Amino acid sequence: MSQSRDEMGTPDDSAAMRIESHTLLGPLPDAAEVHFTFDGQPVVGRAGEPIIAALFAAGIRVLRTMPQSGEARGGWCLVGRCTDCLVVVDGVPNIPACITPVADGVCVTTQYGLDHSDGNALDPPPAPNPSTAP
Ligand code: FES
Repeated sequence: MSQSRDEMGTPDDSAAMRIESHTLLGPLPDAAEVHFTFDGQPVVGRAGEPIIAALFAAGIRVLRTMPQSGEARGGWCLVGRCTDCLVVVDGVPNIPACITPVADGVCVTTQYGLDHSDGNALDPPPAPNPSTAP
């Protein structure tokens, strides 16, 4: 069963997770902090990591919604193939968060629905006009 963006709620510190020490890979190497925002909220990431890693570590799981159903998506393949993690970065829609390194000062927002050619991915698709229906 899928959940909508509203049903998923807001970021929760209890959902935040970053593996600090891995059995096979060892301790997490040092990295500079990177400060950016997601939907206007400050997020701290690690230099060089993908946007999605920083968001997951901050407890953020919903990155986009589906155009028709509004169902929430938060990444699936994590290698740039499925489009489940598309976000808007500095006003540019359709950025795959799983393969895009986080950068200091970027403004990342949820992508609601489709990329609209007018450049505003946050607008809902226009309602069909019944007077022009075939
Ligand atoms: S999670 Fe599949 S493209 Fe990013």
